[in-house]
This record gives sequence, C-alpha cells and structure tokens, in this order.
Amino acid sequence: MNPENSVEEGLLDNTLRPRQVDEFIGQRRKLDNLITYIRGARERNEPLDHVLLYGPPGLGKTTLAHIIAREMGVELRKTSGPVLERKGDLTAILTDIEPHGVLFIDEIHRLRTSMEEILYRAMEDYQVDVIIGQGVGARNVALDLNPFTLVGATTRAGLLSSPLRDRFGILLHLDFYATGDMVRLIRRSAGILGVEITEAAVRSIAARSRGTPRVANKLLRRVRDFAQVEASGSIDDKVAEMAFSALGVDEEGFDEIDRRIIHVVIDKFSGGPVGLSTLATAVMEEKDTIEDVYEPFLIRQGFLKITPRGRVATEKAYMHFKRDKEKSSGSLFKGKEQG
Ligand SMILES: Nc1ncnc2c1ncn2[C@@H]1O[C@H](COP(=O)(O)OP(=O)(O)OP(=O)(O)O)[C@@H](O)[C@H]1O
Ligand SMILES: [Mg+2]
Repeated sequence: MNPENSVEEGLLDNTLRPRQVDEFIGQRRKLDNLITYIRGARERNEPLDHVLLYGPPGLGKTTLAHIIAREMGVELRKTSGPVLERKGDLTAILTDIEPHGVLFIDEIHRLRTSMEEILYRAMEDYQVDVIIGQGVGARNVALDLNPFTLVGATTRAGLLSSPLRDRFGILLHLDFYATGDMVRLIRRSAGILGVEITEAAVRSIAARSRGTPRVANKLLRRVRDFAQVEASGSIDDKVAEMAFSALGVDEEGFDEIDRRIIHVVIDKFSGGPVGLSTLATAVMEEKDTIEDVYEPFLIRQGFLKITPRGRVATEKAYMHFKRDKEKSSGSLFKGKEQG
C-alpha cells in the first residue's frame, strides 16, 4: 500500500479530495491557525504570507494548497520543482498570477538553483528581472508582479536551501493522522463512494492505513473490489480481512516492502546499522521511496531507528516480525556494513 500518488487516484481525486475546510479531517489546530492567517490577510486586503507544507506523501499537502486558494477566493496555479526548467517558464507563470493569487509549487525541494534565485526576489519584492533588447542594447528591467502567495510542498523540508526556507512566513508540518481521524475519513469516503460498510470494517481499515489518508482511500477501494466480486457488495470485516491478506497488508499496515526492509536489516545485517544505499539495493527499491515513504512510518511506529552509522532495527521490530535477536546477531554479515 504505497502512499505515493497513482493514476487511479488522480482520477478519483475529484470525488474524494476535500474541497473545503470543513471537509478536511484532522490536523485541527494547524488548520484553525491557517484559517486565522487567511482571514487576517483577507481583512487587511493583503496576500497570505508564503506557506511551506511539509510531511510524508499522502497526508494532504496538495489538498491544503487547494483549500488555501479557495479560502483566499482565488485560483490555484500549479507547477512543480522538477518541471520548472527555464527562467522564461517561471517568469511567465509569475507575471500571470492574479492579485493575491496562489502559486503552488509541488516537490519544491527539487527546484533548480537558478529557479530558486528568481523566486527569492519574487517572494520578497514581488518583482522579476527580465532582459529587454539584444546585444549591447540589452537591459535588465525589473517587472512588478501582483502580490501573491507561494505555497510550496515537500516531503523533505531538510533538502530546501535555507534562503528559500527562510522566505516562508508560515510553516505547516503535516504529521501522520490519529486512528480516530482515519475512522472518520474512511466513513466519509465510503459515503461518497456509496458503499455500505460495517463499523468493524471501518476500524480494521483505519488500523492498517498508516495514519495516511491516501492509504486509507486506496485500501477502501481495494476492499470494495473484494466486496463486490467476492461477496454481496457491502463491506464487513470478513471481506476486509480477505482483501488485506490478498494485498499482503498486516495488522499494523505493513506491506511487502516494509517486511523486506526489516528482513534485510535484521537477517542480512544483524539488525544494523545499514546504510541507505545498501538497504535500497538489497530491498530493490528507490532510495527516495524508502526515505520518503517507508522509513517515516517504520520510525514513527518504533520499528526502525536512524543512527549516524545507518538504519537499526529495534526490539519491537524483532518481536513484531518474529525474529530471534540472539540468532540474528550471529549473522554472516555482522560488522561489515556501516554508514
Ligand atoms: N485531511 C484530509 N481529510 C480527508 N481526506 C484527505 C485529507 N488529507 C488527504 N486526504 C485524501 O488523501 C489524498 C491524498 O492527499 P494529498 O494529495 O493532498 O497528499 P499530499 O500530501 O499532497 O501527497 P504527495 O506528497 O504525494 O503529493 C487526497 O486525494 C484526499 O482524498
Ligand atoms: Mg501532493
């Protein structure tokens, strides 16, 4: 149950994604603060301060960007760090933003340095430099932009350069959701999808959702498939159970890749430390995916620790994945792997 975005989800976004503040589940205090800032800005007739949304995939960063624009009463312009390659493209977008408009840059940690430099000026002074004329007659002219709000989203705030990070007045960190929030979210999604579901099934999906709305919605859709094809169409905990075992999702929400990660750390490297590159190769996953998607949840559940020398499995991991600590410390690989 990879919480990364998929095509299927892109299509369903329109139905399940909350459009308004009161549909957004959880993160209450952060959301209330954000709404206060938006009201304040609107009353002063100013753009909202620049907002940086950060946290693991699938927790609602893009959703919040849409909600911010909606609450500001403006359109959302969307782009992303890797897409912005040329100065001209960014300049064109910036000069086209309406007053107090919102520009959303997803994966902002992947922005090129040359693009960042344009943004600094745009964020601070609402200006961009353009070159007018050619050859010896060419001049640098500062163009005024409409005052706007940059909303940046990243799974890795740590990779942002500090001059860029410092220009965001509002930092909003999204963290994994509590199980109660997941329960409400699954009920809401089931309602929108028009599928009947028992309370026990809601709870068992919630428990396996990794505190991540996108995972909850994905699991619900898969369980719905099983309910439709293998049962009467409505979801109870029995049909949910059937889907989880077919998907290889265990009672903590861990899937095949989590198990491979723990297997590598415990069985191949005596519990660690294992370096990220080695781990990625052994698990056959991208380093980024391991760092963005899998590790945050394993760490937050207390199964993995990151030490200066690498990843280490905890006592809890040995217990949950039924490994004998004594036995594994005699592994062939012992002491070979660091950093
Ligand atoms: N607080 C929430 N309440 C209800 N549904 C939510 C909430 N947050 C996210 N979702 C649902 O989860 C899906 C994923 O959220 P979103 O796309 O905003 O995540 P993201 O943080 O932008 O992820 P990524 O880092 O992959 O871009 C949304 O389509 C929406 O349906
Ligand atoms: Mg997103």
